[in-house]
Amino acid sequence: MTGGVHIKPVALVTGGASGMGRATVERLARDGFRVVMVDRNEPLALQETSVLQAQGLDVACRCIDLTDEVAINALVQELPPLAALVNNAGIFDERPFDTVSGDDFRRMNEINLIAVHLLTQAAARKMLSGSRIVIISSRAYLGARNHAHYVASKAAVVGYMRATAMELGPRGLLVNSIAPGLIMTPLLASLTPERLQAQLRLQPTGKAGRPEDVAHAVSFLVSPDTDFITGQVLFVDGGKSLGGSYI
Ligand SMILES: NC(=O)c1ccc[n+]([C@@H]2O[C@H](COP(=O)([O-])OP(=O)(O)OC[C@H]3O[C@@H](n4cnc5c(N)ncnc54)[C@H](O)[C@@H]3O)[C@@H](O)[C@H]2O)c1
Repeated sequence: MTGGVHIKPVALVTGGASGMGRATVERLARDGFRVVMVDRNEPLALQETSVLQAQGLDVACRCIDLTDEVAINALVQELPPLAALVNNAGIFDERPFDTVSGDDFRRMNEINLIAVHLLTQAAARKMLSGSRIVIISSRAYLGARNHAHYVASKAAVVGYMRATAMELGPRGLLVNSIAPGLIMTPLLASLTPERLQAQLRLQPTGKAGRPEDVAHAVSFLVSPDTDFITGQVLFVDGGKSLGGSYI
């Protein structure tokens, strides 16, 4: 606070130009955050930022590739301490087990795991007590067929979330994960229509989620009312994590 002027809390959402990241940027801006959308897709990020600004929302974008450690550190240096960091950017693809290469694993972990650590570490160094870190994992971390490299990366960030919740707790930082189930976003483009239908048949609720379903859960985890929740995985999956035969 300076001179009676209220300074908005700042939230950073990675992968904010598309899908659930885009929905989260909008939701947190409506919740009263100044939101920085971070994405490597510059044309889309600029376009979506303009759309949100035209609605009077306090949104800015920074276009970096999150596999670039120097760019991550420069970004965090430039920004004020974050009240909320949402590690959402990620990649997905489908490959039968026998065809997953070492490079497939490295490419997946580079963004789904290592970038999460580098950004979280840099941001946490500046964060004030009470700030929140949310990591988007996946229901698939429990197990799924045809993407062992993706499943492994999403299980790894859950372990990472639990470790950081313990290490950062004494600093007053709260760290949680969301494990979305099938959410209709461009990320699912690599699924064939047959695979998509097969996935939908396994949903206890019989439908896919919307990006807004995840944005709502992020909003909950970064709200002042949830300051006694840390180290948890919140499933937003229409019940798929309840069990049954996963594909
Ligand atoms: N869609 C689903 O069904 C589903 C389910 C479970 C988990 N998830 C996870 O949710 C997150 C968001 O997924 P989505 O479906 O909204 O995806 P999406 O493809 O719609 O959006 C992901 C965004 O991340 C950005 N991005 C990817 N790699 C980047 C990098 N190296 N640097 C900067 N930006 C990068 C992309 O440009 C894109 O805008 C991902 O972590 C994904 O694994 C998705």
